Amino acid sequence: MWGGRFAEGPSAIMREINASIPFDKALWRQDIAASQAHIAMLEAQGIVGADDSKAISDGLNAIAAEYEKDGVPEDWDLEDIHMTTEARLSDLIGPAAGRLHTARSRNDQVATDFRLWVREAIDQMDAGLAALQRALVIRAGEHSRSIMPGFTHLQTAQPVTLGHHLLAYYEMIRRDRSRLADTRARLNESPLGSAALAGTGFPIDRDATSSALGFDRPTANSLDAVSDRDFAMDYLYAASVCALHLSRFAEELIIWASQPYGFVRMPDTLSTGSSIMPQKKNPDAAELVRGHAGRVIGCHTALMITMKGLPLAYSKDMQDDKPPVFEAAGLMALSIAAMTGMVADSTFNMDRMREAAELGYATATDLADWLVTEADIPFREAHHITGAAVKLAEKRGCALDELPLSDLQAIDDRIDESVFDALSVDASVAARASYGGTAPEQVDRQVKRARAELGMD
Ligand code: ARG
Repeated sequence: MWGGRFAEGPSAIMREINASIPFDKALWRQDIAASQAHIAMLEAQGIVGADDSKAISDGLNAIAAEYEKDGVPEDWDLEDIHMTTEARLSDLIGPAAGRLHTARSRNDQVATDFRLWVREAIDQMDAGLAALQRALVIRAGEHSRSIMPGFTHLQTAQPVTLGHHLLAYYEMIRRDRSRLADTRARLNESPLGSAALAGTGFPIDRDATSSALGFDRPTANSLDAVSDRDFAMDYLYAASVCALHLSRFAEELIIWASQPYGFVRMPDTLSTGSSIMPQKKNPDAAELVRGHAGRVIGCHTALMITMKGLPLAYSKDMQDDKPPVFEAAGLMALSIAAMTGMVADSTFNMDRMREAAELGYATATDLADWLVTEADIPFREAHHITGAAVKLAEKRGCALDELPLSDLQAIDDRIDESVFDALSVDASVAARASYGGTAPEQVDRQVKRARAELGMD
C-alpha cells in the first residue's frame, strides 16, 4: 500500500507485531457498512463517478458474502481488516478499488468501525440485562413474602424478604443499563471524514455518512475524532461495574448454596460434579461469573493505560484498544446469560431461610423499636435494654421471643405481654413498610413498578 517510499519490506517480526487482522477481523461488518456509506457519499458529491462507485459497492457486497461464508482471510502482510478488504476489492474490480480510499484514512475508518461495533455490543448487553431483570422480577414476585435473614458484615442483621433481596439486584442492573445508555448517547457521533487527523480538502458530506450509519451527528474536531477512545473506556467502565454487581450476586449464591447455609439449590444445568467426590454439586457457573469480573476490570484498566500519555492524534498503540473490548464483551455476554439461568432456575429453600432468620436475634431491633413506640423510651436506652435481653437469651440458649415475660420484665418493667407480637420475623418484616423497605406490601409495589418499567404486563 505504501511501497513507493520503501526500499525494503518489513522484517518478519515487524509483520507479526504490526498485524491486527487476527482480532480486528471482528470488525468486518462495520468496515463494509462504513465503506458503503463512504462510497455512496463520494458519488453523491461528484468525487467518484457512478460506474466506479457501483463497481466498488457491488464488490463490497461480494466480499461481505465471501466473509460470511468462508470467514476473513488472515494475511499478516495486509495488516488489518481495512487493508484486507481493500486488497480483496482490488482483486475483484481492479484499479477502480483505489478510489474508495479518497478523502479517508484508516484512522477515521477504524474509529468509525469501532464505534459501530461498540454500539452493537452495548445494545446486546442491554438486551441481556433486560432478560436478567425480567428473571429477577418474576422470582421477586414469587417471593415477596418469603422470609430470610438480612445480613450486615455477613452476620444476621434483620429479617428481610427474598423478593426484596432479589430486587436489590434489579436496581443495580437498572443503573448498569442507564450507564450503557449514557455511553451509547455520547458514542453516537461519526468520526468518518476526519481523515488522517486534519480533515480533507475534498468536498465531502459528513452529515450524509453520519446519518447513513445511524449516528446522531459528525464529530466536531477531526484531531479528537481519530484519537478519542473514550467511548470504549466508557463501555468498559459500564461493563466493569455491571460485572462487579454480577460477581457480588454470584458470591451470595455460592455462599447460599453451601451445605451449612442450604438456602438455594442451583440448577443442575449450571453446576458441575467432582471427578472424585460423588456427592458434589459445585456452583462453577457462579464462580466463573465471579472470576470473569476480575478479567473485565482488567480489560478496562488495560485500555486506560494504553491511552494514558498518548499525544494527539493517532498512534499505533491505539490498535491495542480492540482486544480488551472484544474480550470484555464476550465475558459479559456469558456472565449475564449464566446469571439469568441461575436466577430463573434455582430452587430457594424457604424453610431453611426462615429458620436462619429466626436464629441470630434478627428481631432485636424490633424489641428496641417496640420500647421506643410503646414505652416512649429514647432509642439509645432501648438499644441498651435490648442488648441485655439478647445477652440473657444467649445465656439461656433460646430465641428472644422464647424468654418468659417475667425475665424480660426483670430487665425493664415497662415491657408487657404485647411485646411478643413484635418479636416474630413476620411482624418484623411487616413493620418495615417505609418506601423501599422489605415489607411484602412494599416489595409487591416495587415488583409492580419494575414490571411496568420492563413492559411485562
Ligand atoms: N489497524 C489500525 C488500528 O487498529 C488501523 C489504523 C492504522 N492507522 C495508521 N495510521 N497506521 O489502529
